[in-house]
Amino acid sequence: METELEWVRVFPSLEIAESSLELNVPRALKYRDHRLCLIRNSDGIRAFFDECPHKRVPLSRGSCPTGKEIVCYLHSYIYHLETGQEMEGNGGELTFYPVKHNEDGVFIGFPSQST
Ligand code: FES
Repeated sequence: METELEWVRVFPSLEIAESSLELNVPRALKYRDHRLCLIRNSDGIRAFFDECPHKRVPLSRGSCPTGKEIVCYLHSYIYHLETGQEMEGNGGELTFYPVKHNEDGVFIGFPSQST
């Protein structure tokens, strides 16, 4: 069964998102009880759960040196922004939230709270 998504507008336009999110710099975002990390790289905008799978610290405090990965600040585990997989065999995986944009803005899809 597919999870229903609630699409929430997080920026009023792609242009504003691009000017607000510095390239390859993680940014924390909170919506209700969801804590997210946003990164804009050359492929677009990624959103994922803002918690390192290793010891649960915020990944938004990490770095994104090449634009292809997020590096956790605590033990330097590296998670690929395309696959979500840890890149050096340590295990763990990012939990992504879908991102889309249209003429009305930039939206993130949150799991619906309805049952
Ligand atoms: S807490 Fe992130 S790598 Fe250990």
